[in-house]
Amino acid sequence: MAGHKEIDAVTGTETTGHVWDGDLKELNKPLPRWWLYVLYACIVWAIGYWIAFPAWPFLDGYTRGVIGYSQRNEVAKDLAAAKESQATYLAAIAERTPAEIEKDSSLMEFALRGGGAQFANNCAPCHGRGAQGFKGYPNLNDDDWLWGGTLEEIEQTIRNGIRSGHSDSHESAMPRFGIDQVLTTAQISDAATFVLSLSGTPGDAAAVERGKAIFDEQCAACHGPEGKGMREMGAPNLTDGIWLFGGTKADIEETIRTGRGGVMPAWDGKLDPVTIKMLAIYVHALGGGK
Ligand code: HEC
Ligand code: HEC
Repeated sequence: MAGHKEIDAVTGTETTGHVWDGDLKELNKPLPRWWLYVLYACIVWAIGYWIAFPAWPFLDGYTRGVIGYSQRNEVAKDLAAAKESQATYLAAIAERTPAEIEKDSSLMEFALRGGGAQFANNCAPCHGRGAQGFKGYPNLNDDDWLWGGTLEEIEQTIRNGIRSGHSDSHESAMPRFGIDQVLTTAQISDAATFVLSLSGTPGDAAAVERGKAIFDEQCAACHGPEGKGMREMGAPNLTDGIWLFGGTKADIEETIRTGRGGVMPAWDGKLDPVTIKMLAIYVHALGGGK
């Protein structure tokens, strides 16, 4: 085709000399220069990249590239740096008492975040995402504590659990007055009527009177003579209108009949002491903490 030069009459463009079917001719329209230069630059860049960075796969690996970059190493480096900065905080938390931690605002913030994350993972299934509790699972936001609301008491409850089988667990439980036939159904009904009257729900006066006699004999030892509860026994205050197991007469009768016996697992051994401390600080700060 050398020396060929033919101008297409319609477009005024030179043809390449390729002809199909006798009269279909190919116009000679080369790629724009800038486009070609970009292409060449890309090729040069790609070759440079193959040499510098990990690129070509083999059956049992890949070319590593001369500068030895690896995303995995970068992530590992970031993680190590994050761990190191955490380690300083974790060590400080391990050393100090919860009360000392509460006084140090940056340490406190770290503990609250850590405690909050652990709470969502471990505690929310029973106590609820916002620690608002459910029937049988106490609300941890209020100031109504079965087993005590100081930092130390909360930490101890979390570590050892409640009726958990742990050797240092809170063990005291309410008797099963109905199941173990300590009280008759009628007596349970009277006791429930009296309990309701303690929080301002009046009942039949004679039943309240009979219920009070039963209460003084059977219940006051744990719930206190006025029904205000006793921390050492885990016996709730019955006068505040806050009910763990429900506050209808039927709920209260069921409580007296079965004793309920709520179980909170011990976290000793499942969570490390620093995590348990952060959880105690978190729960304490939820609002009810004393
Ligand atoms: C399997 C369910 C369950 C899980 C999981 C659980 N708890 Fe509990 N928790 C309970 C029950 C039930 C009680 C009340 C026990 C009772 O009746 O005395 C309780 C009681 C408590 C109390 C005592 C409240 C008071 O009034 O004295 C605290 C504090 C507590 N839980 C914190 C936690 C924390 C923190 C976690 C997570 C590490 C957690 N719980 C996980 C079931 C659970
Ligand atoms: C040995 C101590 C003990 C005695 C005696 C006892 N209780 Fe309790 N009571 C408890 C404990 C502990 C709880 C909490 C149970 C739980 O968390 O599983 C409780 C819970 C309750 C509740 C549930 C409160 C709520 O918030 O839902 C009621 C109601 C109650 N007791 C009434 C009585 C009555 C009425 C008697 C007497 C007939 C009695 N108790 C005797 C220890 C006792």
